[in-house]
Amino acid sequence: MDHVAEILSVVAESTDNDSPGYVDVFRNAIRRTPPVFFRQKYADFFWQCATSIRGWLPRVVVACATTESSGSRALADIWSRVDYNKDAEAGLLEHAKDESRHARMFVELGRLAFAKAYDANVLDAVEECLSRSPKNINKNTSCLISEETLIDYVVQLNIVEIRTRLHLHFLAPVYYACAPPNARIKVESILRSLARDEASHVSYTAGLIDSWAQTGDRKKLAELYSLRLSDYNEHTIAHCDKAIHDYGQGLLPDLIGD
Ligand SMILES: [Fe+2]
Ligand SMILES: [Fe+2]
Repeated sequence: MDHVAEILSVVAESTDNDSPGYVDVFRNAIRRTPPVFFRQKYADFFWQCATSIRGWLPRVVVACATTESSGSRALADIWSRVDYNKDAEAGLLEHAKDESRHARMFVELGRLAFAKAYDANVLDAVEECLSRSPKNINKNTSCLISEETLIDYVVQLNIVEIRTRLHLHFLAPVYYACAPPNARIKVESILRSLARDEASHVSYTAGLIDSWAQTGDRKKLAELYSLRLSDYNEHTIAHCDKAIHDYGQGLLPDLIGD
């Protein structure tokens, strides 16, 4: 799979122009710091976990619900501390609402696909703790972030959304296959809706990066993107190492190493 071409086509589909600034920054950063999550070994790792570790998928669904919820809170917080970039503000608020909705969609996915895998009331308890959709929230003008920090956050969001979309791409067919036949239409609708939204999150953050790249220092942006990619490579490897330690029982090979 040509991940770079695929991401750029997702971005191109949602914009009127070719996003030359984003394309430049993205290609430059990927060349310097190839993401570990683009490696075939990473997809193999997901496949191995999903097919050989009992209870892994239901746990992933709950983990997704809680991370989507905390992501929504973080996005609303960033939105509240920006009052000088209307495009970024609109995108961040919409994004925060989407992630809050996704958290509940993952709970519903758990109920539909893995109902028997959870102890009674586990999913109700998870749902209870999810953040509410951000409505009637106010700006925190005493604690605004600089444009430099905003750019840094948006670069990180773009990377995270690319990775999230990829995870969904790996696991959606497995979720679908695990669901009882009478739940599959609903499961498919949830998965399609998640995939559409995650693509839109990649696109709006790419659009913001494109506008900064067209008016600002493109080289510096590519350096920042590359630096953040390297951070996320480290997080990703640490996360996979933990999964191997927790669930591998010595059976999983090092799928991430060179
Ligand atoms: Fe999401
Ligand atoms: Fe997202």
